[in-house]
Parts: sequence; structure tokens; C-alpha cells
Amino acid sequence: MMRHAGGRYRKGKSQWQAEEGCSYSHPLDVQLYADQPLFRLLGDVSGNRVLDIGCGNGYLMHRVQAKAAHVTGIDASAEMIRGAQGFGHRDIAGLVCVALADSLPFVSCIYDAAICSLTINNLSSADMVKRTFRDAARVLKSGGALIISLPHPNTLGAKTRFRSTDWEEGQTQENLVPGERFRRQIMGQDGTMISIVNYYWPKEVLTNFAVRAGFDVDRLVEETAGGVEIAQCSGELDPIYAEIPFFLVMRLVKRLKKAKELASGREASHMSQEKKTQVTGGMAVPGN
Ligand SMILES: C[S@@+](CC[C@H](N)C(=O)[O-])C[C@H]1O[C@@H](n2cnc3c(N)ncnc32)[C@H](O)[C@@H]1O
Repeated sequence: MMRHAGGRYRKGKSQWQAEEGCSYSHPLDVQLYADQPLFRLLGDVSGNRVLDIGCGNGYLMHRVQAKAAHVTGIDASAEMIRGAQGFGHRDIAGLVCVALADSLPFVSCIYDAAICSLTINNLSSADMVKRTFRDAARVLKSGGALIISLPHPNTLGAKTRFRSTDWEEGQTQENLVPGERFRRQIMGQDGTMISIVNYYWPKEVLTNFAVRAGFDVDRLVEETAGGVEIAQCSGELDPIYAEIPFFLVMRLVKRLKKAKELASGREASHMSQEKKTQVTGGMAVPGN
């Protein structure tokens, strides 16, 4: 059963419904094959500033903060942000605010790293994905890494107890086109399945957008389970996890500025165009 949260999007652009967001949790397969690679690729972030783009209820912010990083989270859903500030995440010292991934309310070149977990697949247009990469590149320092994770675009047809796709008539894994909308069943917080809208962004398209936004693709993880892992998970993981990857995790690194660009003071002009951010009671609120 879906729980209605009554959350709203700041600009009403996101397709992620508030009630879906509130029911979202990290089932076992996400923890093993999306979160673990994400943290491996993130590496040592102690003392670093890290941005969580689409932070949801703050679950990953919490874990990044435990690695002694200064974490900021943004999410399109006011309800999710309230969740991140509230029960279970009271000790998040970093800032959280309502904002869209493609319009980050931060000055340029301030983050050492960023994560964007299971959120790219909620973005409904190529322009939005491109702008999200561009804005992430803008706020990262040169050489900073953006780690993204998403349900693996090549294995959406596979069904497990944690996730499956409800194809529209005539829709198949084979005939999806980039940006196409489809419905997923995923396990919600209370263990029941919830239905959500997703968009198909294949690896090649994401790579292309990321490179054009100023990133190099540094690492790509498409993990499957070992037999031992499946045995240890006492029946929770279907043997199919040993055969196909359910998540795609990419480490994108912001290309170093060329000496010419630095000399022409481009970095400085980015700073002067910074968006207004008011800070109220320890919380960053994007200016209007
Ligand atoms: C599946 S949840 C993942 C949450 C979190 N990253 C995690 O892994 O637990 C997707 C999140 O993306 C957020 N989202 C969707 N579209 C967004 C956008 N355009 N800008 C910012 N956040 C967005 C949703 O509100 C939701 O919290």
C-alpha cells in the first residue's frame, strides 16, 4: 500500500511522486550491488565536502557523514527533505535543502565529490539529464568525482522479489528507446511492493552526456553475486543475481581545467554567476 505524504516539488518538474519517495528504502540488493560499489568508488572522503544529489530520506548522507565528510543533500521532494532532517537522521550536521538536480543552488567548484544514487533513472528528459551532469560538473572541483548508480538499464526485464518492470503493451527491454518511460515495481519501506515511474537511460547515452558535461568516465561497476553470497543471504537473493547485474554504478571525474581556460579566468566568472543561497537556521534554502 502506498503511503501518501503530501510532499510537493519546488518546480513541479520531477516525475518522482512524493508518496513513492516516502516509501523508498534500501532493500538487500541495493545495499549489496548499488551502495557497496558506490562507497568503494567514492573512496576516502574524510574531511571532504560531499554533495548528495537526490538524497531522499538521507540514508546515504548518513553513511557518508560517518566517513568524516561534510555532507550536503538536495532533493526535489520537500517531504523527503523533511525525512532527512527528521527521525533517524537528526544528527546529520550537513545541510539539506529542496532543489532540483539540474539547478543546484550552490556556487561553483566547491565540492570534492558528489553522489547521485538511484535518481538519474527518475529524470524524464535528455535535457534534464544533461543539465544534471553539467551542474554537477560545475559545483565539483576539478578532479572531483561524481558517483552515479541506477537500476541496470540492460536487465530491466528480470524479475526478483525486490524489483520488476510492468511493461506497457508492446514495450520490451529490447525495444526501449532512450528517455522512454516505464513502470517499475520496487520494494517499499514496509516490505510491500510499490509502483514507480522510471526512464530508460542506457549506458552509452549516459556516458555521452557525462563526457559532454566535462567528465571522464573513470570506472564502471556492474556487479553480480557470488554463489557464497547467495547462500549466505538465506534465500533472500534469487540465484539470478549471480547471472546478471541489477545495478550500474559509474565513477565520473571532472576533467582538469586546461591551462588556457584557467588563465582566461573562466573559473572566476563561474563564481560571479553563483546562485543565491540563503542560510536559515543552519539550513540552505535556494533563493527564488
Ligand atoms: C529512489 S529515490 C533515491 C533516494 C536516495 N538517493 C537513496 O539512494 O536512498 C530517488 C530520489 O530522487 C529524487 N528526485 C527525483 N527527481 C529529482 C530531481 N529532478 N532533482 C532532485 N531530486 C530528484 C526523489 O525525490 C527521490 O528522493
